[in-house]
Amino acid sequence: MNIALITGASSGIGREFAKQIAKKWRHIDEIWVVARRRERLETLKKQCGLTIKIVCADLLLEEGYLLLKRELKENRPAVRIVVNAAGVGKDGTIADMDWEVQEEMIQLNCLALSRVTKICLPYLSVGSRVIQVASAAAFGPQPGFAVYAATKAYVLSYSRALAEEVRGRGIIVTSVCPGPVDTEFFGKDGKPVSKLKQKSMAKPEDVVRKALLDSAKKKRLSVYKPSMKAVHAAWKVMPTTWMLLLMKKFL
Ligand SMILES: NC(=O)c1ccc[n+]([C@@H]2O[C@H](COP(=O)([O-])OP(=O)(O)OC[C@H]3O[C@@H](n4cnc5c(N)ncnc54)[C@H](OP(=O)(O)O)[C@@H]3O)[C@@H](O)[C@H]2O)c1
Repeated sequence: MNIALITGASSGIGREFAKQIAKKWRHIDEIWVVARRRERLETLKKQCGLTIKIVCADLLLEEGYLLLKRELKENRPAVRIVVNAAGVGKDGTIADMDWEVQEEMIQLNCLALSRVTKICLPYLSVGSRVIQVASAAAFGPQPGFAVYAATKAYVLSYSRALAEEVRGRGIIVTSVCPGPVDTEFFGKDGKPVSKLKQKSMAKPEDVVRKALLDSAKKKRLSVYKPSMKAVHAAWKVMPTTWMLLLMKKFL
């Protein structure tokens, strides 16, 4: 049985991956959707044409991983696509933000992504895809969003190294680095604080369409929108101190 396994599938980017994979990837028999909110996953199940298997798991808890490992061991699927989309991002300076909030970001964005990847690796084979949802925040440090940006820099670095490690097995790893995307990520009011981020907001449909296309083309990096490509290029050529000043002024 060929499956796609998607974390963070109950909303935003992860849910959109589930919908587009169900529609377009004909060789997938079943999509395993991982998140905590079961009712959201049940709704997704009704919306998608393909068979959906709900793996209701909290990736901050050991039980979540035990469940995932058990399901894989019992079903022994061929994992054709893994999408790591579960993640959180909170604004705030390192001094002011509660430690618990910072710790949760590190645990979910870095540890959970690494652990899910490691658990899935034995079930991947030639042509399998790993899609890691990082962020444009991975390109450089962001004062006021420091912990989040650092977690995403980890995701990008980790995934680039992984891509090289598994190249010989024919596995393709793509890091997805969007700028602001219109999802529940920004909390109840649904908007980023910065005006610039509000203006450059992308639709999850477009980000995911490009990510799947880039993965199909075996690209290691997927950056949606010319403005985000410009940010990426700027981080490569401009001195870090200048970029930090710009970040502080505009974000
Ligand atoms: N939106 C943006 O502007 C943006 C930009 C760049 C990158 N990203 C990245 O894109 C990814 C998806 O974010 P999004 O924008 O789609 O946000 P979202 O709509 O808030 O989705 C976050 C997902 O993570 C899941 N999640 C949160 N805590 C979890 C836990 N403890 N265990 C298991 N699942 C958990 C949530 O499911 P449950 O709550 O049901 O568990 C939800 O499905 C994240 O990695 C984010 O950093 C977002």
